[in-house]
Amino acid sequence: MKTIFKLIITAAVLALAGWTAKADEGMWLPSLISQRIGDMQEKGFKLNAEDIYSINQASLKDAVVLFGRGCTGELISPEGLLLTNHHCGYGQIQKHSSVEHDYLKDGFWAMSRAEELPNPGLTVSFLERMEDVTEKVLEGYDPQMSEAQRAELVKKNSKAIIDEATKEGKGLRATVEALYYGNQYFMFLYREYADVRLVGAPPSSIGKFGGDTDNWMWPRHTGDFSMFRIYADKDNNPAPYSKDNVPYKPKKFFRISTKGVHEGDFTFIYGFPGRTQEYIHSDGVRYIEETGDPHKINLRTLRLNIQKKYMGQSQKVRIQYSSKNATVANAWKKWQGEVKGIKKMKTVQTKQEFEKAFDRWAKGGEFDGVIAKIAQLYKDLEPYQFAADYYTETARTIELANFAAGILGSFKTDKESKAVTFDSGKASGMAESFYKDYYLPIDKECFVAVMTEFDSNVPAEFKPAYFTSMMKKYGSAQKWADALFGKSIFADRAKLEKLIEGCSTSKAAAKARKTVAADPATVFASEFAKWYAADVQPHATRINQELQLAYRDYMRGQMVYCRTQRVPKSFYPDANLTLRVAYGHIKGYSPSDAVYYKPSSTIKGIMQKDNPDIFDYNIPQRLRDIYAQKDYGRWTDETGEVPVCFIATNHTTGGNSGSPVINADGDLIGLNFDRVWEGTMSDIVFDPEICRNISLDVRYVLFTIEKLGKAEYLFDEMVFAE
Ligand code: ARG
Ligand code: GLU
Repeated sequence: MKTIFKLIITAAVLALAGWTAKADEGMWLPSLISQRIGDMQEKGFKLNAEDIYSINQASLKDAVVLFGRGCTGELISPEGLLLTNHHCGYGQIQKHSSVEHDYLKDGFWAMSRAEELPNPGLTVSFLERMEDVTEKVLEGYDPQMSEAQRAELVKKNSKAIIDEATKEGKGLRATVEALYYGNQYFMFLYREYADVRLVGAPPSSIGKFGGDTDNWMWPRHTGDFSMFRIYADKDNNPAPYSKDNVPYKPKKFFRISTKGVHEGDFTFIYGFPGRTQEYIHSDGVRYIEETGDPHKINLRTLRLNIQKKYMGQSQKVRIQYSSKNATVANAWKKWQGEVKGIKKMKTVQTKQEFEKAFDRWAKGGEFDGVIAKIAQLYKDLEPYQFAADYYTETARTIELANFAAGILGSFKTDKESKAVTFDSGKASGMAESFYKDYYLPIDKECFVAVMTEFDSNVPAEFKPAYFTSMMKKYGSAQKWADALFGKSIFADRAKLEKLIEGCSTSKAAAKARKTVAADPATVFASEFAKWYAADVQPHATRINQELQLAYRDYMRGQMVYCRTQRVPKSFYPDANLTLRVAYGHIKGYSPSDAVYYKPSSTIKGIMQKDNPDIFDYNIPQRLRDIYAQKDYGRWTDETGEVPVCFIATNHTTGGNSGSPVINADGDLIGLNFDRVWEGTMSDIVFDPEICRNISLDVRYVLFTIEKLGKAEYLFDEMVFAE
C-alpha cells in the first residue's frame, strides 16, 4: 500500500518536472515532449510533438540513431545514408588505414556502393519506442527490502520486460533504465543494425582540423564529419554483413536546409547524451573538483607527453597511436575546463546553501536527515572512489597487460573433463589487431610513469600487496618495468604466435595456458583485478547502493521542496545514453571581461589558422587553392564565405556527438560535435551565459563532399529543403 502511495506521489511530482524551466537548460524525454512543446513553439519551433516522437507515424526520432555505443548519427537519404562525426567514425577510419592507404591523412571516398567499406562490430540502433515501466519494475517491492534486494528485484522484473519486448527477434534489443535515481523506470526498445559501411571521410586535416589544440574550444573550424550507410536484408531487417544486403530504407530521414543560421534562431538537438549529474550533493562536486579531476588530469598529462614524444618521431607510431591519443586527450582537456567552470560558478558553495535551506525545510518530514546521510556516505566512499580512480587511470591503462588478460580469457576449461581448449583463430585475430597498433616503448614508459604516481599517491593501506612486494623486489617502477617487459612473452610477437600455433591438442593448450597465466604481464593484470574485486569494488558498491537509496529520496525531496517553496529550478532526468531533446538558440558568448565571441565561423578562419609547420593546422593544398580561387560552389553564406561552425545554447554532453541540429522547420542545419571549454561544467551545473554546444554547419559538409571529396554523386539521394 505504502509503495503504491509513494508511486502516485512520485508520478504527481514527476508530472510537474520542469515546471519552472524557462532557460535553455535541459535534456528532455521525447515521449514526454508534449510537456515542453509549448515552450519550444514559443521559441520558434514550427512542428508539433507528434512530429518529434510518435509510435503511430514516422517521426523525427526514426531518423536518429545511436551510433556504436557512444555517439549519435542521423539518416539523410531514403537509402540509408548516415551522417555522424569524424571523431565518431575515427576508430573505423583508423582500422582501414595503413602507411600505404592512410585514410586518416588523405581521407576516403567511396565512388560507388561497391567501394563502401564494411566495419565488423559497428552497430547502429533505432529507437522503436520508449515506455514508462515503473510499476512493472517495482512489482513485488516492499519498503523493508534492502537496497541490494531491491536491485535484484529490479533486475529480475526488467529482464522479464526486456524478454517480452524483444521476443520477436529481428534485431530488437531493449534496456530498462532508471531515471531520477530510480524514482521512475523507462524501457527503451531498439532495432539494431550490424552492417554499417564507411562511405566517406575528409582528411584529418579537415575532420580533425585544430586537433587537440582546438578541441573543446571556440572559435572552431573543424570539419568533424564522416558518412556511413546502413545495410539490411531484402526485407529491410537487420542482418550481419553480407554482399547480398541492400541499403536500409528508413521510416524517416532529414531534409537538408542550406538556409543557414543567424543569432537568435531556434535550434533543436536530437541525440543520445551519455551522463550528467545535475542534482548531486555538494560533497560529490567537491570530490570531482578537488580530488578526482586533478589526479586524473595529472596521470593523463604524463601519458600524453610520452605518447607525443614518440608520435613525433615516427609516422608509423603517429598512425598507431592517433586514436588512442585522441581518446586520452579528450577527457583530459574536458576535466580541466570542468574544474575551472565549477570553481567559477562556486558550485560547491551554492549547493551547500541550497542544502542548508532544504534541510531546514525538511525537519520532521519525510526528507529529514537525508542531506547529512549523503554527506556521511560520501565520506565513507571517498577513499574507495580514489582507489578506483587510480586503478582505472593507471593499472588498467597498461596495454600489454590488457592484451595478456584477453589471451588468457581465450582458454576455456571444460567443467567436467577439465580438458583445456583454445580458439587459436580468435587469438591470432586478437594478436593481429593488438600488434598493428602497439608500440612497446610507449607502453613501458607509461607503465613507469603511472606506477610511480600510484606509489606516491595511493595510501599504503590501499595498495595491493602484490604492488608493494613488486616495488620492494625491484626497488623502482623502472626496474620492475624492465623485468616485466623484458620477460613477458607478449612483448615478443613471434614467440607468442608460436605459442598460439602450438595449441593443437588439449594437452598442448593446457601447457600453454600455464605459460600465459604465469607470464608477468598476465600476473600484473590479474593481481590488480583481484585486489580491485576484493578490496575496493565491494565496499564502493555497498556504499554506492546506500547512496543511491538516499539520492532517490533527495531527488524527490528536491522536487517537492522547489515546487512548494517556489524555488526556480528545472527538473529533467540526468542523461543516461537514452534519446533526448535539447532546444535553444544560436548565440555568442562572453567568456571573460572585454571578450565577446560571435556565434559562427567561416573558411576565412581556417586560412588564418593555416600553418604548414604545425601538424594540427596544416590544411590540404587543395583547400588553399579553392580559397584562392573562391571556388565555393553553392555553399556560401550571405557574405560570400563558406560557413564552417556555429554555437548555440543547447544543453548537450558526450554522446551527443554527431547529433542532428534541427531548425524551426524540422530540417537539418548541422551536426553537433563539441562544447565550449568554459562551459564543460554543464554536466554538473549549467550556466546559460556561458554553456554553448558547437556544431558543424551542414553547408561546410556539402562543400567538403563536393570540392575536396569529388563525391557530389551523393547529393542525388539527398533532399534539400529549398
Ligand atoms: N571534444 C569532442 C568530444 O568530446 C571531440 C572529441 C574529438 N577528439 C579529440 N581528441 N579531438 O567528443
Ligand atoms: N564530442 C563529444 C562527444 O563525443 C560531444 C561534446 C560534449 O561532450 O558535449 O559526444
